[in-house]
Amino acid sequence: MNTHRTMKAFVLQGGFGFNHIEEVNLPIPTPAEGEVLLKIKAVSLNARDLGVINGIYNPNLSTPLIPISDGVGEIVAVGKNTTKFQLGQRVCGIFTQSWKTGLPTQENRVSTLGSPLDGMLAEYVVLPQDGLVSVPEHLTDVEAATLPCAAVTAWHAIVEEGQIKENDTVVVQGTGGVSLFALQFAKLYGAKVIVTSSSDDKLARAKALGADFGINYKQTPHWDHAVLEYTQGIGADHIVDLGGGTTLNRSISALKVGGQISIVGVLSGASVQDFAIVPAIQKIARLQAINVGSRAMFERMNVAIEQHRLKPVVDSVFPFANTKYALKYLAEGSYFGKISIEL
Ligand SMILES: NC(=O)c1ccc[n+]([C@@H]2O[C@H](COP(=O)([O-])OP(=O)(O)OC[C@H]3O[C@@H](n4cnc5c(N)ncnc54)[C@H](OP(=O)(O)O)[C@@H]3O)[C@@H](O)[C@H]2O)c1
Repeated sequence: MNTHRTMKAFVLQGGFGFNHIEEVNLPIPTPAEGEVLLKIKAVSLNARDLGVINGIYNPNLSTPLIPISDGVGEIVAVGKNTTKFQLGQRVCGIFTQSWKTGLPTQENRVSTLGSPLDGMLAEYVVLPQDGLVSVPEHLTDVEAATLPCAAVTAWHAIVEEGQIKENDTVVVQGTGGVSLFALQFAKLYGAKVIVTSSSDDKLARAKALGADFGINYKQTPHWDHAVLEYTQGIGADHIVDLGGGTTLNRSISALKVGGQISIVGVLSGASVQDFAIVPAIQKIARLQAINVGSRAMFERMNVAIEQHRLKPVVDSVFPFANTKYALKYLAEGSYFGKISIEL
């Protein structure tokens, strides 16, 4: 079936960087037993995808590779004994294909879409039925495509590990994908949310989304002091640390005694000089690294998204043919929320 038909896809080949992203024709794949064929409707970009393309994320990556972890598709064919989903259903691939439930395993580390496994930047993709979740019906394709990496990461940090509750104070850093999902999830639970951003305009938009307080981290590099001032010296219950290198020590400084920092991102560097061990001990800080999440987390998150009719924040949508422009726009960093590509 489908063996004579071809599809368009973008692949990374012959090296790293945007210049090595090429549009190619490939055979439409055929689903084997337990697999489904997805007609991809939309994909969405993450900071991680740039790291993959630029060879930072995995310098030993084998290519050609279809990049981009996140996408939504309609099931257009199924393999033998594939009964979990129906033809016509809209589904997302889960970021870590082998992480279904419970704690992650060593095996999970090599089962992530868009590196080292092929990702979603193609007109058709085959995935195992166990590596899929159905998507909330009220979301458009472009919105649904934003969920697998950024939203599941934020949900894992804020709800599953963070056990967020009413009146907790949460700090989220920047106004990209993970940060705005974390803001939206924290508000569902009645928390107070502090957003940091390099732009006053983006802080105003974050407030329109429900943020209680904004700090411009360019104008106020000691944003940790501003968090302490806002919380009357107590500090935040939960900080989603997305900056990494230059933010982790400040996150410890801004934390409440006994609070939790989700170690998620490396936007300002992947290592910390002079990590502040003593303040971390004095605060009895709980530092919990997050690596996206399981299928079970994705499913629980979708229930909440559906129940609250939550809408992801999509900054812009590019047509498939303009994929390279979308990637360049991602690299420029001027967006608010998510960037998607519609097929
Ligand atoms: N561990 C995991 O499972 C996991 C999952 C997803 C993402 N991540 C990581 O988390 C980070 C965020 O990912 P994302 O996809 O949400 O990124 P994104 O959408 O590209 O967000 C980028 C935004 O972060 C803000 N930012 C940049 N440098 C900053 C800094 N030094 N301090 C504070 N904010 C800064 C900027 O916001 P403003 O313009 O408002 O300043 C920028 O627009 C990345 O490092 C990514 O690799 C990790």
